[in-house]
Amino acid sequence: MRERWVIGNWKMNGTLQRNRELLDALKALAPTRARIAVCVPSVFLPQTAELLAGTAIAWGAQDVSAQPNGAYTGQISSSMLQEFGASVAIVGHSERRLFNAESNEDVAKKALAAANAGLRPVVCVGESLAEREAGRAEAVVGAQLAACTEALARFPALPVIAYEPVWAIGTGKTASPEQAEAMHAFLRSELANISPEARQVPILYGGSVKPSNAAELFAQPNIDGGLIGGASLVAADFLAIAAA
Ligand code: 13P
Repeated sequence: MRERWVIGNWKMNGTLQRNRELLDALKALAPTRARIAVCVPSVFLPQTAELLAGTAIAWGAQDVSAQPNGAYTGQISSSMLQEFGASVAIVGHSERRLFNAESNEDVAKKALAAANAGLRPVVCVGESLAEREAGRAEAVVGAQLAACTEALARFPALPVIAYEPVWAIGTGKTASPEQAEAMHAFLRSELANISPEARQVPILYGGSVKPSNAAELFAQPNIDGGLIGGASLVAADFLAIAAA
């Protein structure tokens, strides 16, 4: 049985006060079939680790350096994150690909660095609206995945993949369950070509997931949970999505 995950990506949001309210509210989470995690801005990791210690909710980062240590001003290594009890790390989010010019190769290096430090990389893939309209969605997403597959064979544990169509992020436009399932089935078959184990990689959907659409998305055969942006900042919404 494949793992299921619901992961909140807070992006660049939060204050000490608001985080405390949100994390305290999340502790009310009833046991779910899915593993639950929040990926917070790294400055909030000590607070998150303290507030979530002893709960079933995991925490992690939104990016990692591809390097283990050294003269890389502003970067944070996977082992530093691990020291704060982080267990997951998002890599290759479309906002980092766009605003930080991260290439498929950069993302693969980061995923491998995270995996080698004992973090579970959550590798994001997804096409833009122009790419979808040009009929290139599978080609783009397939190339993003392929950049990681060589690294994948060297991962000590399975990564998590998140399919996040760029046109659905923060826009209120969700991919339909059929559109999302079609891409997830494509990703599953690409993974199956690598190895029988890779077939078991959880594939999450992200992009305007809300309490009102989560159950239908998560009911698709190849959708193993969600990577949640805006709705992960509202405790009631995140709890409802986790329950779905
Ligand atoms: P939204 O849920 O706000 O659309 O963001 C999705 C996302 O980018 C999660 O990583």
